[in-house]
Amino acid sequence: MQKEWMEKFQEIYGNGGDIRSYFAPGRVNLIGEHTDYSGGHVFPCALTIGTYGLARKREDNKLRFYSLNFSKLGVIESSLEDLIPSEEAGWTNYPKGVMWTFEKRGYKLPFGLDFFIYGNIPNGSGLSSSASLEVLTGVMLKDLFGFSDLTMQDLALIGQYSENNFNGMNCGIMDQFASAMGKKDCAIFLDTSTLEFEYAPVKLPDAKIVITNSKVKHSLVGSAYNDRRNECETALKDLQGVMDIKALGELTEAEFEAHKDAIKDPVCQKRAKHAVYENQRTIKAVKALKEDKIEEFGRLMNDSHVSLRDDYEVSCEEIDILVDLAWKMPGVLGSRITGGGFGGCTVSIVKNEAVDAFIEKIGREYKEKVGHEAEFYVVDIGDGARKL
Ligand code: GLA
Repeated sequence: MQKEWMEKFQEIYGNGGDIRSYFAPGRVNLIGEHTDYSGGHVFPCALTIGTYGLARKREDNKLRFYSLNFSKLGVIESSLEDLIPSEEAGWTNYPKGVMWTFEKRGYKLPFGLDFFIYGNIPNGSGLSSSASLEVLTGVMLKDLFGFSDLTMQDLALIGQYSENNFNGMNCGIMDQFASAMGKKDCAIFLDTSTLEFEYAPVKLPDAKIVITNSKVKHSLVGSAYNDRRNECETALKDLQGVMDIKALGELTEAEFEAHKDAIKDPVCQKRAKHAVYENQRTIKAVKALKEDKIEEFGRLMNDSHVSLRDDYEVSCEEIDILVDLAWKMPGVLGSRITGGGFGGCTVSIVKNEAVDAFIEKIGREYKEKVGHEAEFYVVDIGDGARKL
């Protein structure tokens, strides 16, 4: 933890007491997109960038929040009696939502706290800055107040619950799970219907994972996301009229094809097709990775993009430009949109010797076509959230 942050904490909140530090990472999903609320598989990994936090217990009920990323907002004050979402609360709705969820689950918070954060995930990039803040808050509350029976998995579920019920975004479990449970150099092959998971080493001796940030975030993100989720639920209900299933993730491609006409609305049918095929693709991709068939893994990533673009309709012009440019580059094994969509980032597997040209050429052509720069990050896969 950087010395300046500790100094800043003391400057804002005063010296003394037991100031503790924590970190929770962002994530990138390699494949298995928009499957986590349909009982499918996902394959994310934790990044080495994320949200850092410093916190100190108080002796009263006050909550004081400060973010170095939003330093203009100064200290935002609240209290444990005021765990209610509001627009003015801005980013503090995320930690407050987690506190509210702790209390709802019977983990009464005995005191308020002074809380300081700094995040190095680019804002709105779809690399889960909000999930990392939720998981960070969970790790911090568990440690500060000694809730030792809570597991990292519980903290992921608490983060998701607060995002769904306090912040109104009906997300699945992937982001919080990856932030809480990440493991260095591994991706997490998670079955979202049971939360059974396996760490799969990401061995890429000749290639790197490159994230490209389109630096666009179209509005309606939350509402379009919730719409997709509702459309999948409608499709599931229609299918349940003709077959005995609990989730779209239970179906193979052949089972889907045999019963898809039961889904009355053609849009819902396309959404369900994506959910089923993407889940099966994820299972195949992890198998390919384990067998060192990286090219096969890359092809499945490309197919994932096509499905997200055409059937799930969560891509956008800028992201399609980035993916098309990547597909044309020599040395690119696979490239696709990653995360919730409607902007944000792509993830690509790029041969070591092609990485510099990838960044230079795509950077230049993207700027020519779109009018602003993209940003590139060559990824290191890190560990999950922890006390520092
Ligand atoms: C967002 C959500 C996740 C998941 C992805 C799409 O990141 O928070 O739960 O649904 O979108 O795969």
